Amino acid sequence: MRRVTLTQFLIEQQRAGRMTADLRLLLEVVARAAKAISVNVSKGALAGLLGEAGTDNVQGEAQKKLDVIANEILLQANEWGGHLAAMASEEVETVHQIPFDYPTGGFLLLFDPLDGSSNIDVNISVGMIFSVLRMPPSEQRATEESFMQPGREQVAAGYALFGPSTMFVLTIGHGVHAFTLDREMGSFIYTQPFMTIPEETREFAINASNARFWEKPVQRYIDELQQGKAGPRGVDFNMRWVASMVADVHRVLTRGGIFMYPMDEKCRHQGGKLRLMYEANPMAMLVEQAGGAASTGRERILDVQPHKLHQRVPVILGSRAEVERVNDYYREA
Ligand code: AHG
Ligand code: MN
Ligand code: MN
Ligand code: MN
Repeated sequence: MRRVTLTQFLIEQQRAGRMTADLRLLLEVVARAAKAISVNVSKGALAGLLGEAGTDNVQGEAQKKLDVIANEILLQANEWGGHLAAMASEEVETVHQIPFDYPTGGFLLLFDPLDGSSNIDVNISVGMIFSVLRMPPSEQRATEESFMQPGREQVAAGYALFGPSTMFVLTIGHGVHAFTLDREMGSFIYTQPFMTIPEETREFAINASNARFWEKPVQRYIDELQQGKAGPRGVDFNMRWVASMVADVHRVLTRGGIFMYPMDEKCRHQGGKLRLMYEANPMAMLVEQAGGAASTGRERILDVQPHKLHQRVPVILGSRAEVERVNDYYREA
């Protein structure tokens, strides 16, 4: 079979009028940065890149060296191309402006440069998540306000998964498409067109150590799953929890499932655990494009109106039938 590269795929999408040359350039640059992050992540202990950087980020998290390196790679790769008005990152407190001596463009790029970084020191899959918004045409200079757009406004979203293979998974609003890195060629090869989430599933992903803090609808839902054949569902479910959102969501996109980081009493004061702008929104766009659903339990994630760059939300996403069941339990509560 002819091997199609990411570059060819993007050119064909542009030729079909589904994206502009500027968006194609943006996605090529992000994919190239993902390759550079993959090279650093796969060095592990050999390059002294494991462990903590000795600094904290705006989230109050101790940064890993690779959090900082991945962030630098994405900022430096994207600031000179002329396709961006500004950037936002989990690892940067405020809007990252394009240096004054570079041209700017019409897109806003947001990213989680290293997702699941608590796994990096134990050699478990990690990822990178990105989201693309349009710069509001009425504004000259990007401010935090420019980014305060609901997830349904995203023009593109995707992630890189640094697992046994490195993959790049992308949507521009016409389905979800996956590419696998051919390390010899240094190219991402098109390996999975139109990823689709099965409507039904028998697999759930949640950090069960938070059970005593969950809201009643989630407790009711998980209790029913755990009763297995004897319970109201009448079937046995399996559980997975990688604690890298990218790895857990990639499994859901590939074979179905429901992924939950719901509201709990521990994270209620922050609004949830996962970040809306560069974790929940991009993953919600991908999941909906793959035929699934993504909700906070009370509303569609892509309809949440942001007020802060690092805002957190509850996340319930995956196979549509299961997400809708949890939504029903919230409505009945
Ligand atoms: P990050 O490493 O970018 O800060 O994200 C970690 C997130 C997400 O990847 C994962 O689903 C979740 O944290 C895991 O949380 P717990 O450690 O509480 O399970
Ligand atoms: Mn983090
Ligand atoms: Mn993350
Ligand atoms: Mn991160």
